Amino acid sequence: MHRYRYREQELYCENVPVATLAEEYGTPLWVYSRKTLEDNYKAISEAFSAVDCTICFSVKSCSSLGVLGVFREMNSGFDIVSGGELHRVIKAGGDTSRVVYAGVGKTDDEIRYAISHNIMMFNVESEDELANISRIAEEMDAIAPVSLRLNPDVDPKTHRKTTTGKKENKFGIDLAIAAQIVNNIRDYPGVRLIGADVHLGSPINSPAPYAEALEKIVPFILEHRSEAAPFTHMNCGGGFGLFYKDEAVPTFKEYADTIVPYIQKLGCKLVLEPGRSMAGNSAILLADVQYTKTNGEKTFVIIDAGMNDLIRPAMYESYHFLWPIITDNTPNWNGVGETPADESKLIPTDVVGPICESSDVFTHDRPLPPMQRGDTVAIFSAGAYGSTMSSNYNSHPRAAEVLVSGEEWAIIRQRETWDDLIRLETGI
Ligand code: LLP
Repeated sequence: MHRYRYREQELYCENVPVATLAEEYGTPLWVYSRKTLEDNYKAISEAFSAVDCTICFSVKSCSSLGVLGVFREMNSGFDIVSGGELHRVIKAGGDTSRVVYAGVGKTDDEIRYAISHNIMMFNVESEDELANISRIAEEMDAIAPVSLRLNPDVDPKTHRKTTTGKKENKFGIDLAIAAQIVNNIRDYPGVRLIGADVHLGSPINSPAPYAEALEKIVPFILEHRSEAAPFTHMNCGGGFGLFYKDEAVPTFKEYADTIVPYIQKLGCKLVLEPGRSMAGNSAILLADVQYTKTNGEKTFVIIDAGMNDLIRPAMYESYHFLWPIITDNTPNWNGVGETPADESKLIPTDVVGPICESSDVFTHDRPLPPMQRGDTVAIFSAGAYGSTMSSNYNSHPRAAEVLVSGEEWAIIRQRETWDDLIRLETGI
């Protein structure tokens, strides 16, 4: 569930009309709903409560300090993939003993930084990396807790660019090689092997791939568990689905019903790394209509947000629901509208951004209400991999971000200025 609703033909985030925010801060503007983040965290915690489960919010999906602060208040852990993300968690007041660190290319500096902050564990992606972590930990007179990221060669049936658990992907370790690493674990005295982890891809709109992976991983752990490799933690990664268009997204309970029995069989702790399912429906991107035009049959609506703000449609052909924030024709999408849209009044429309790329397109011939210069639109389900993937392409300053809570709101990221664009540069 999310906290966006049309009331009297006007879109609200919780109890705030989003038009008020667009007026106060300008557009493009990211608007987050605190309650939605909290509801999602509570729902996943509840669903997996039959086992000892640490939810590590995946920072890469939505990394603003304000959003991380909401998760810190919920006592969430964090899943990170860089020293920069660890820095964010620390600045947001997060508990580093609840941080798991994944990624295939951790540098020495990043490893040192994470060891010095006593993170929960490294998710190790190769024997080379394991050797390096062990070496650095020994130098620091520390023992680094590690988990082996396994590659079970399972197809999560998602976009090819977000598939991670198949043999041809760069992620994780083949089970046969992982077995050798476990057998040789005493060669690496700087680490303590406490877990196994897997992340298959994102989004995975079925619990079945998790079962398929665990069918391979559970026997592996039971066979290789020892005093030197106690496997006290099983980390099933992220990947839980999000409603974008019309997909049948399983509930957290449905994922839990599949995953929990395997964890009970292992008698170990569970770690999860959800990102999209926590942050995705918490945010919208507001944009103003700059111009409209027709080219033959086609109607174009040009807005002030582009692929530099939200790259998902251009990069993955992703669908994001889009609608004017003030309308007498409220939509029938995921509960936001009060009445189903009157389709006779809709026009096939290409909503596009200002970027000089033909892929800078948010909708292709999608039936939408007529729009004109000065209208504001909301792009929904934009909280995950939205602002975190934004860039300054075409030298557009990054948008501001606002966190709404009930009737109140706070700015959590200022809009960048033109001077910010060149702040670190030196001319000749
Ligand atoms: N854990 C690991 C190791 C990951 O690689 C990811 C996502 C997650 C957890 C979180 O997955 P989630 O719960 O958010 O599905 N930019 C793409 C998604 C890339 C996902 C990268 N890894 C998109 O916009 O769809």
